[in-house]
Amino acid sequence: MILVTGGAGFIGSNFILDWLAQCDEPVLNLDKLTYAGNPDNLASLAGDPRHVFVKGDICDAALVTGLLARYQPRAILNFAAESHVDRSIHGPRDFVTTNVNGTFTLLEAARAHWQGLAGEDKRAFRFLQVSTDEVYGTLGPDEGPFTETTAYAPNSPYAASKAAADHLVRAWHHTYGMPTLSTNCSNNYGPCQFPEKLIPLVITNARQGKSLPVYGDGQQVRDWLYVADHCAAIRRVLEAGRCGDTYNVGGWNEMANLDVVRKLCGLLDELAPKAAGSYLEQILHVQDRPGHDRRYAIDARKIERELGWKPLETFDTGIRKTVAWYLAHDDWVRHVQSGDYLGWMDTNYAHRDTQEEIG
Ligand code: NAD
Ligand code: DAU
Repeated sequence: MILVTGGAGFIGSNFILDWLAQCDEPVLNLDKLTYAGNPDNLASLAGDPRHVFVKGDICDAALVTGLLARYQPRAILNFAAESHVDRSIHGPRDFVTTNVNGTFTLLEAARAHWQGLAGEDKRAFRFLQVSTDEVYGTLGPDEGPFTETTAYAPNSPYAASKAAADHLVRAWHHTYGMPTLSTNCSNNYGPCQFPEKLIPLVITNARQGKSLPVYGDGQQVRDWLYVADHCAAIRRVLEAGRCGDTYNVGGWNEMANLDVVRKLCGLLDELAPKAAGSYLEQILHVQDRPGHDRRYAIDARKIERELGWKPLETFDTGIRKTVAWYLAHDDWVRHVQSGDYLGWMDTNYAHRDTQEEIG
């Protein structure tokens, strides 16, 4: 079997569902179930013996060591993280704890486990770290996209904690010979993304008649990738990636935030029209994110050239599927918009200055 950490979150749950749709190799899912972990994402696996769920923390060395001894996974895929940049600005401690110490704990448990293996089991074992393009910092408008050799320059507490984890993974390979793999991916979107992130936030706020908050001038650029394409890239890297290597994963799809929000409004006007007017009227410019990175873009040629991975979705096809998913899953949305969610909305948005969208 494989061990997936953070498998109740957005990408982890999509990954497990994809994995079990394509093969019968069981998945051990270790997830702390923070506010971002949602067992509803995996409801379709209820009673499926191929999915073993353990509620627990990747920082718990005894738990992780015990799970490795008991289940003997052939690979560990570390998705578990605190993942939201704005939350890292309000409270960075959990980011250092989970993203840095948690990765360290996993690496140490994995190292002891791997060193105790022999023969083919030892040769085939892998530790795959799921990381982000944010570790590379920000790009100017005319700079080329991030490659695997771009120097790390993380700007937010979240990015710094992910960068620290990446450095640990690198060192464990270099020093101990651990068979590690790393992926650095751009912004994902798709089903089951917690509505604190831009795309699900805009869809859910729009439907609930709330304003659609655009930070600053909305001209910050992200490179959007449909989550199923990211999952396919991770499967491919696990299968054929070179140990110690990093693979950048991206959609070749740079868009300014304001254009993303306008696109979502257009789709909602088409698929769930209001009684009168357009969702565009709900756009509201609000005070910018401190230290906001202006532009991310990924050069994904290495994974394409060496492993034959390419995204299957364009932004147009992926975003239409995503909006349709949210429109069809009101119950999921209602469920995640709990007390904690409302508290976060107040913390992040109540005190930002606002300015109406013009034009
Ligand atoms: P998410 O916040 O939706 O899910 C994170 C999951 O990790 C949750 O289920 C949570 O309960 C779990 N978790 C948190 N702390 C834990 C701990 N200490 N022990 C065990 N489980 C814990 O995040 P996501 O968007 O699915 O991101 C998954 C991974 O992919 C992260 O490592 C993130 O840095 C990376 N990533 C995300 C994106 C993106 O656009 N979302 C892009 C590139 C890379
Ligand atoms: O680039 C990969 C990263 O993408 C991942 O590593 C992170 O885990 C993931 O959260 C995401 O980070 P971003 O900060 O880019 O995503 P977010 O959805 O929070 O914001 C996307 C852009 O939209 C960003 O420029 C900030 C802006 N934004 C966000 C929110 C929540 C707004 O303008 N308004 C908002 O209300």
